[in-house]
Amino acid sequence: MDTYYYPMLWLLIAVLAIGIMAVGSGIGLYGKRLSEEPQFQRQFLALRRLRLILWSLVVLLIAGGLLTWSVERDTKRQAYQQLKADILAKYDKNTVWMAPDWSIAAQDPNYELIAYGKELIANTNDYFGDNGIVRPHSINAQNCQNCHLDAGTKPFGNNYSGVVANYPKVRARSGTLETIPKRVNDCFQRSLNGQPLDTTSREMEAIVAYIQWLAMGVPKGEKPKGVGLAPLPYLDRPADPARGKIVFESKCVSCHGSDGQGLPMPGAFDRRYPPLWGEMSFNQAAGLFRLTRFASYVKANMPLGASYENPQLTDEEAWDVAAFVESKPRPENPFIKEDWPDISKKPIDHPFGPYVDSFPETQHKYGPFAPIADFYASKGK
Ligand code: HEC
Ligand code: HEC
Repeated sequence: MDTYYYPMLWLLIAVLAIGIMAVGSGIGLYGKRLSEEPQFQRQFLALRRLRLILWSLVVLLIAGGLLTWSVERDTKRQAYQQLKADILAKYDKNTVWMAPDWSIAAQDPNYELIAYGKELIANTNDYFGDNGIVRPHSINAQNCQNCHLDAGTKPFGNNYSGVVANYPKVRARSGTLETIPKRVNDCFQRSLNGQPLDTTSREMEAIVAYIQWLAMGVPKGEKPKGVGLAPLPYLDRPADPARGKIVFESKCVSCHGSDGQGLPMPGAFDRRYPPLWGEMSFNQAAGLFRLTRFASYVKANMPLGASYENPQLTDEEAWDVAAFVESKPRPENPFIKEDWPDISKKPIDHPFGPYVDSFPETQHKYGPFAPIADFYASKGK
C-alpha cells in the first residue's frame, strides 16, 4: 500500500469529524428555534440527514481501512511464510550452513520475542550476571555468545543450526530424552556454572524462539555442514600443558590475561574478555571441559578473528593450549554422580572414571585418544 493511503484516510476522517460537529451545532441551533419558528423544519431535517450521511461515510472509511490493513497483513504473512519455505527448499547438506539474514526477522509475527532471545544470548551477563536485570547473581560472568559465536550463527563456531532438527533427543550424558529448554538449561548449569531458567519463563521462551528462528532452514534430522565444532585430528602423543603454556603466553594473554581471568575490552564500558579458568569460568561438567571440544573450538575460532577457513593455530598448538587451560583449576563437576548413567557411553575425552576400558583418567583427559577410540571402535560402539 502506498505511503499516503493511511494518512489520507485519517485526514478524511478528521475532516468528516469536523463536519459532523459543525452540522451537530447547526442542528442544535435550529432545534431550539423550532418551537417559535416552525418554518425551519426543512433545514432542521436536512441537517439531520446530512449528519447521518457523514457518519455513514466515517464508518465506511474505517471499515475500508481495517479491511486493507488485514488484507495487507495476510499478504505480508504469506510472503514471509513463502520466504521461509524457500530457505528450507534451498537447504544443501554440502554447503556450509549460513544463518538467515537477520533483517528478515522483523517480518516475523514473533519478532519481539526472537529479538529478545538473541539479546539474551549475546549479552547473557547483563540479565543474569552480578548486576543482572532479570535475575542477578545467578550465573558466572559469561555470555552464551562467548562460546556460541556471533549469537550462535558462526560456522564451526558452535552454532545452533542443528538444534531444532535434532531435539528432542535421547542424550547419553543424562540418559534421558532432552528437549531444547533442557539443553539450554544444561549450558546455564554447566557452561555458565549457574541456575537453570524456569522453563516457562519469558526468557526461556525467547531463547528457544530465537534458536528456532535461526534454524528455520534445516530439515528435521539433518546435521548441517558447519554445525557445532569441527573435529580435529588426534595427536599421537598426549596434549602437553607445558607446550600449551608457551602458546597461551604468545597468542592468548593479550585478551584473556596472563592469569587467564580476562582483561577489560578496550573502548567497551564494563565489558571483559571471558575468563578461561577459575571461579568465573565454566565448570568441569561443561562440554568445553572436554579436551576435544576445547581444542576444536580454539582451532576454528581463536585468537579472536580466526575461522575454520582461516585458522591461526596449528593442530598441535590447539591441542596443547587446550591442555594448558584445562590443567588449571575451575569449579568442580556438580553432576559427577548423575552424568553418563551408562558408563560405556562416556565420550573418550570424559576425564572422570569409572570406565569400561582400562585407560587411566589422565589419558582420557589429555590423550593420546586414538588408542581409546580404537578400543571402542573394536567393541562396535
Ligand atoms: C563455556 C562455553 C559455553 C557457554 C558459555 C554456553 N555454551 Fe552452550 N554449548 C557449549 C558446548 C561446548 C556445547 C556442545 C558442543 C558439542 O558437543 O559439540 C554446547 C551446546 C549447546 C546446545 C546444543 C547444541 C547442539 O547442536 O546440540 C545448546 C542449545 C546450547 N549450548 C545453548 C546455550 C545457551 C542458550 C547458552 C547461554 C545460556 C550457552 N549454551 C552457553 C558451550 C557453551
Ligand atoms: C583479540 C582478543 C582475543 C585473543 C587474542 C584470544 N581470544 Fe579467546 N576470546 C576472545 C573473545 C572476545 C571471546 C568471546 C567471544 C564473543 O563473545 O564473541 C573469547 C572466547 C574464548 C573462549 C570461550 C571460553 C569461555 O569460557 O568463554 C575460549 C576457550 C578462548 N577464547 C580461548 C582462547 C585461546 C586459547 C586463545 C589463544 C590461542 C585466545 N582465546 C585468544 C578474545 C580473544
